[in-house]
This record gives sequence, C-alpha cells and structure tokens, in this order.
Amino acid sequence: MVTKLLKNSVGRKLVMALTGFCMAGFVVVHLVGNTAIFLGPEAINLYAAKLKSLGPLIWVARGGLLAILAAHIFFGITLTLENNKAKPQNYAVKKRQATTLSSETMIYSGLLILAFVVYHLLHFTVRVTNPDISEAVDALGQHDVFFMVVSSFQMIAISCIYIAAMVVLFLHVRHGIHSLIQTFGLNDDKTIPLFKNASLGVAAVLALGFISIPLLIYLGIVKL
Ligand code: HEM
Repeated sequence: MVTKLLKNSVGRKLVMALTGFCMAGFVVVHLVGNTAIFLGPEAINLYAAKLKSLGPLIWVARGGLLAILAAHIFFGITLTLENNKAKPQNYAVKKRQATTLSSETMIYSGLLILAFVVYHLLHFTVRVTNPDISEAVDALGQHDVFFMVVSSFQMIAISCIYIAAMVVLFLHVRHGIHSLIQTFGLNDDKTIPLFKNASLGVAAVLALGFISIPLLIYLGIVKL
C-alpha cells in the first residue's frame, strides 16, 4: 500500500507536504527557543542545558528529524526530475504559468538550505568551525551558548552567511506553505490570493525572526 502510494506523484507530493510541515514545525520551535538569547545569557544557556538533559530523547528526535529530512530531499529531487522530463521543450512561444521566483527555484533554495544546515551544525552543534569561541562554560558550569552565538555574529562574514540563508529560507517556506495548502486541496479560486498572502506572511515572520538575531548582535544591541 505504502509503495503503491509512493509510486504515484500525488503520493510523493503528500510525503513532501507532510515532511515539509514537520520541518517547518521544528524551525518555528527552534526560532522560539532561540529568542531566549534576547533575555540574556542565563536564559539561553539554561534552555540549551535543559535540551541536553533530555539525554536519549534528544537522539530519538534527531533520528526522526534526519529521516524526515532525507525523505523530503529524496522526493524533492525525484519530483523535480520527473517534472523537468514532462515539461514540453522547444515551444516557439513559451507560455508562462503563474509562477513566482520561489516556485521556480524550490530545488535550488532547498539545496542551499541543506548546505546552510550542514554548516550550521558544524558551527553550533559539532563546533568545529570556530572552536576558539565555542567551548566556553558559564558560572554554573553550563555550555556558554550566549557567548558562542554573540561572538559568532559579531563577525560580519558569519552574520552575512546566516542572513543570506534566511532570505533563501523565506523563498522556500513561502512556496512550501502555498504548495502544502494546494496538495491538501484546502484552497479554491477565491481563496488562492488569501492563502498566497498568508504563506508570504508566515515565511516573512519566520525569516525576519531569525534575521533579528545576527542583526541585533552585529549592530551591538545584543552584546557580551
Ligand atoms: C539566527 C539563526 C539561528 C540561530 C542563532 C541558531 C542557533 C542554534 C544553536 C545555538 C544550536 C545548538 C544548540 C545546542 O546544541 O546547544 C542550533 C542547533 C540546530 N539548528 Fe539552529 N539556529 C538558527 C537557525 C536555524 C535554522 C534556520 C535551521 C533550519 C533550517 C536550524 C537548524 C538547526 C538544527 C537542525 C540544529 C541541531 C539541533 C540538535 O542539536 O539536534 N537553525 N541552532
């Protein structure tokens, strides 16, 4: 039954929608958690320590997230290859469908976000890109996440990488939410503009929320 479902493109779109929804959920929770940085070192360091104290549960969550990410990438690539194959080539006059920059670049924005996530994990989770500022501990003996994040975003190159990645995330999430609504058949001709604006709004809040962290640190509003 599952293999049958995955063999047709509707089934695969459904997997894309569900896995995309789960990852968007993670990103929202991650953003809310990260805003603890605006409350100062105690708040963000305690939040990180609490997450760490979940022990094996955190590894279960990481495994689940990795499986969801792998499925999203696999079906994203195969659906794109299929769509490209099915596209009529070499028309004398190319009739453009109602597309946006986001919808035409989903595969590229997706791969760029993947590259960002790999860098981000090496930066803040494995902590190999800037080891000099990544291993400090606070007065309570907890990992000093505040020092690591603030010291990182005081460097213009790192802030720029994160801000650029969040612009790409905005493009991907905007079209992703819109596609998800269509996949589940939640829209009709009348509600298309409404859902389009709602997708844009959610993606913008998410991206601007993340951008505010490197921006406020780089501008010196959040500092050590
Ligand atoms: C300004 C933006 C961001 C900041 C400041 C930030 C901060 C952090 C920090 C400090 C950690 C390490 C937590 C710890 O081990 O103590 C982390 C982990 C992580 N972040 Fe972010 N993050 C940002 C954006 C994002 C985005 C946009 C994504 C996804 C697209 C993302 C995905 C992840 C993942 C998957 C982890 C690993 C979670 C784990 O430990 O299992 N982050 N982030």
